[in-house]
Amino acid sequence: MKKYNVVICGGGSTYTPDMMELLVMLQKPFPLNKVVLYDIDAERQEVVGEFGRVLFKEYYPDVEFSYTTDKENAFDGIDFAFVQIRAGGLEQRKNDEQIPYKYGRIGQETCGAGGLSYGIRSVVQMIDLINDIREYSKEAWIINYSNPAAIVAEACKIVFPDDKKIVNICDMPTDVIGRYLPLVGKKRSEVDCMYFGLNHYGWFTKVLDKKTGKDILPDILNYVVTHYEELREEAKARIRGEDDHWGIVFYNHLTMIKDFPYSLPNTYNLYYMYPKLSYEHYTANHTRYDEVVAGREANVFSFCRKVASLGKMIGTEFDITDKISPYTEFSGEMNSETVYADNDVHAAYLVELVLSIINNKKEMALVMIKNDGIVDNLDPGMMLEATSIIGKEDIIPLKHGPIGQFEKGLLENQYACEKLLVEAILEHSDQKLLQAFTENRLIGDADVAKAMIKDFKEANGDYWPEFK
Ligand code: NAD
Ligand code: G6P
Ligand code: MN
Repeated sequence: MKKYNVVICGGGSTYTPDMMELLVMLQKPFPLNKVVLYDIDAERQEVVGEFGRVLFKEYYPDVEFSYTTDKENAFDGIDFAFVQIRAGGLEQRKNDEQIPYKYGRIGQETCGAGGLSYGIRSVVQMIDLINDIREYSKEAWIINYSNPAAIVAEACKIVFPDDKKIVNICDMPTDVIGRYLPLVGKKRSEVDCMYFGLNHYGWFTKVLDKKTGKDILPDILNYVVTHYEELREEAKARIRGEDDHWGIVFYNHLTMIKDFPYSLPNTYNLYYMYPKLSYEHYTANHTRYDEVVAGREANVFSFCRKVASLGKMIGTEFDITDKISPYTEFSGEMNSETVYADNDVHAAYLVELVLSIINNKKEMALVMIKNDGIVDNLDPGMMLEATSIIGKEDIIPLKHGPIGQFEKGLLENQYACEKLLVEAILEHSDQKLLQAFTENRLIGDADVAKAMIKDFKEANGDYWPEFK
């Protein structure tokens, strides 16, 4: 039986512990020989790596586990590279989010000006990383989560046009559909979805019951519209104080559905369609960065440190025997009871994709892929996030058909911005850089664009490539 070698790039990511836990759970359907973490920040990665050491030693001792900052050790003989790097780290996320607020604009990780600044760093570092992986493992699948994934995907299309084993993905649509399906008594494993858009800017247009073939999206939307007040009350009650970013986002998401009740939007559409509401979510001195540092990052790292200092999990408060035992014999066949997604959806979605690849299951999943007629009234070059068939050798998108004028207008504007940004980076063009920033709907003013570019250049320091 084939056993796989996996590298997780961005080993020190807050998502790595959960991802490793899922690998431990899925030892039967996705048998592993070697797991290696790779990061450029040795100190940060060590915390997560020491947790991994305990985890694998206790629950998956056959696996050769290590963590490293050495490229050859990390990438040699790899079958899968799972990539979740944050170019510039959280320190640069802070700048990405704070600088736009200075100009009365939304400061966000992937949308608006902050997303463009992050895009510049990410494109540069992702190209290097992919070249490094390819030097040692020509055939490995490279599955990337690193943001801003839309911009990274556009760059990959241009720089690695013939490499069919680079896949950019996002967990947001999976999270969205997973939250709304229970309203009609369904689970994610019971449906196939049609979806289109740019990453963090898209819509579900069909939700097909795998058994009957019936499209149940109208039922979901109708439920939201007819129970709107009730759902808003429930969503409000779930907001745990002002810092509960995702609670607030899903509270506002209900309004977006009610206002445009013919498709199910991505949560990130809120930034473009309700900029005032989104802007008011934060202030210049308090953005999502502050919440992540005090919340997810602090919690994950404290958990890893505690486990590492104990040197064991079994028999302690961190024991996951009960959590993983239903899965140690799990074959990977999804059915209505499949709940490994109660682990973070982030890891679950990635592993579902991997299972479809290694077993050539040809399951439907959303990935970023070149339009080429998926949506025939959009630019054929667009990197759409779209429903595709996932097989061992290739990923084939399903045709979606034409989309409405409203969505087409929004997407064409954003695509022009993202395309210009990638061209600016690859051609070192400051003219295109200014065009990209000015084109962006959340900036929309050349004078503001110029001022922001100046600020970002300064804040990014050595991360900023040359533009002339
Ligand atoms: P994080 O800052 O906690 O961790 C990122 C890690 O990457 C850090 O340890 C950092 O040292 C490392 N890193 C930075 N540059 C690197 C490079 N060039 N090579 C190797 N390692 C590098 O970030 P996080 O919050 O855990 O998120 C990680 C990434 O995943 C981010 O890009 C985030 O936006 C992305 N993400 C994407 C999705 C999605 O839906 N696509 C979902 C979740 C997270
Ligand atoms: C969602 C998005 C990701 C994003 C993540 C965390 O899953 O799809 O792209 O990175 O949320 O966002 P946060 O703002 O909580 O760090
Ligand atoms: Mn995403």
